[in-house]
Amino acid sequence: MKKQLIENKIPEHIAIIMDGNGRWAKKQGLLRVAGHEKGTIAVREAVEFSAEIGVKNLTLFAFSTENWNRPKFEVKTLMKLLVSSLKKELPTLQKNNIRLNSVGNLSTLPDKARAELEEVIQKTQANTHMTLTLALSYGSREEIKRMVRRISEKVKNNQLKLDEITDALINQHLYTFDMPDVDLLIRTSGEQRISNFLLWQIAYAELYFCDVLWPDFRKEHLFDAIYNYQKRERRFGKTSEQL
Ligand code: FPP
Repeated sequence: MKKQLIENKIPEHIAIIMDGNGRWAKKQGLLRVAGHEKGTIAVREAVEFSAEIGVKNLTLFAFSTENWNRPKFEVKTLMKLLVSSLKKELPTLQKNNIRLNSVGNLSTLPDKARAELEEVIQKTQANTHMTLTLALSYGSREEIKRMVRRISEKVKNNQLKLDEITDALINQHLYTFDMPDVDLLIRTSGEQRISNFLLWQIAYAELYFCDVLWPDFRKEHLFDAIYNYQKRERRFGKTSEQL
């Protein structure tokens, strides 16, 4: 029997840790950056498939706060790839009614990358079919630290009372303020860790780890992840009987 996805159980928010570009390149005897280049094809596949099946939010971990410590050449190439991909993909985003969004400390990006990103975000802001969020210079601890500072400032200035600090208020002070919690978190390449990605937002996410290296990740792999997700029972702390 052909495996099929259940239409009314499509995750509303999928987040992906795209891992394994370097290992993919090494296996082919290529420079690490060749893996990142090839990784853009997998990005396109994930975006297309998510949009096709009605995922409302797709968030990709494209560059972490820790990635700045990589060799200069690799960082430079990743930033160049970001600019060229944004330029290249803008028409596709428009055609498919996809809004681009980003989370992270964008002030640390090179001017050119930030300008291109802001331009595509602005040009696609009215699109409604899906939101594609790139996590860039993103680290969850940095995000949480920033949230605590912003809230504390308001408490200090008597703009907020302590008992007004709720989950919803915390959400409002995160980079992801306008996004729902993550339903499904995928990590490729066989590593099974979170690496400082969306720690608050994955509180009830289903985790899915697969061995495929990111440059080899194709629509069928995303299908498998969602198929597996749909078989799980999400209890949010309740019992099976209560659901
Ligand atoms: C992790 O693989 C991947 C990254 C740090 C960068 C992800 C970037 C892309 C997929 C390409 C550009 C993306 C966009 C959105 C234009 P790794 O280098 O850590 O792999 P390794 O663990 O095998 O070394």
